[in-house]
Amino acid sequence: MEINVTINGQKHTHDVEPRTLLVHYIREAVGLMGTNIGCDTSSCGACTIHLNGESVKSCTMFAVQAEGADITTIEGLAPDEKNLHPMQEAFMQNHALQCGYCTPGMVMAAVSLLDENPSPTELEVREGLEGNLCRCTGYHNIVNAVLDCAKKK
Ligand code: FES
Ligand code: FES
Repeated sequence: MEINVTINGQKHTHDVEPRTLLVHYIREAVGLMGTNIGCDTSSCGACTIHLNGESVKSCTMFAVQAEGADITTIEGLAPDEKNLHPMQEAFMQNHALQCGYCTPGMVMAAVSLLDENPSPTELEVREGLEGNLCRCTGYHNIVNAVLDCAKKK
């Protein structure tokens, strides 16, 4: 089936098998490897992207279901090559990553969280990110990074 999507401001058209998951399409057809696959079963959030402005786990849908969508991946979050997005900056400043495997999905989910709730409490951040699993940091610094980003905004 043909799929037409805009990813990080660029239009893409490909033929895909109907069973292709969106995360596989983004990584393998489009070549954007920043969106990670941790579980492939909607559990870990490593594959989180923004689809029409909403945070979505891209392993939970088929690529063809994204027909016509406007997608942002971690590669498209920063304003340009020299500057990070404020959430990326906050993760860096707060040492909110170790291996980095969960980080793209965590950052995308965190950006969405602040879009919906610009001044969250610590509990709201923890609840807002509960669909994203980190195997390394224990979440403390991740939560601090999101609160720091909210404060600076
Ligand atoms: S890879 Fe999609 S939720 Fe884990
Ligand atoms: S930093 Fe390693 S999984 Fe989160």
